[in-house]
Amino acid sequence: MSEKLIAPSVLAADFANLQRDVEMINNSDADWFHIDIMDGVFVPNISFGMPVLRDIVKHASKTIDVHLMIVEPDRYIQKFADLGSNILTVHYEACTHLHRTIQAIKATGMKAGVALNPHTSVHLLEDVIQDLDMVCLMSVNPGFGGQSFIENTYAKVSALKEIITRKNASTLIEIDGGVTNKNAKQLVAAGADVLVAGSYVFKSDDPITTVKELRKLVN
Ligand code: DX5
Ligand code: ZN
Repeated sequence: MSEKLIAPSVLAADFANLQRDVEMINNSDADWFHIDIMDGVFVPNISFGMPVLRDIVKHASKTIDVHLMIVEPDRYIQKFADLGSNILTVHYEACTHLHRTIQAIKATGMKAGVALNPHTSVHLLEDVIQDLDMVCLMSVNPGFGGQSFIENTYAKVSALKEIITRKNASTLIEIDGGVTNKNAKQLVAAGADVLVAGSYVFKSDDPITTVKELRKLVN
């Protein structure tokens, strides 16, 4: 079985001590930086934008996994590539021509991901799954950190894993929202590859140990 990945979400970091928190993740057992970009239109919240990402990238020494919660993501694909994103994930619900968007992301050299809101069926991705490097299953309604995990996610992970296997694809399954030590093992058992964790890591007393234990739990 391939190794499972932990991606702390910088949304839960202390923005007044961002360099400190980025370096803390560099020095932890985490695999990726998960970066949440919100526009206040696709989701009812605004997070941070390009200048902040640019400064995160300056200090980060791990894969940069950017999750765009914005309308018309096509307008910004090249910009995020130039800023140093390694993986760019757009929302299914924000893309009218998803196939074209996926190809545009890959043309920049970034890996392409698609995120699904809790109400969006994984079966809608059957015809593009082979083109996708990653599917991000939202296990909360996007927009805020610190929300409770939606239990139906386990069933979605299993259904998506079945599609990936049947289509002989190598797509990773990422879970985003409310991930803790309470659900991590069951998510991985259902087929998850990447666990995003915001509050659970950054709001803990000892984030380094929290990441280490989460990693141990799933590998
Ligand atoms: C939610 C974001 C998540 C969020 C996760 O809209 O996409 O990445 O930061 O935070 P927690 O782990 O606190 O639910
Ligand atoms: Zn996210």
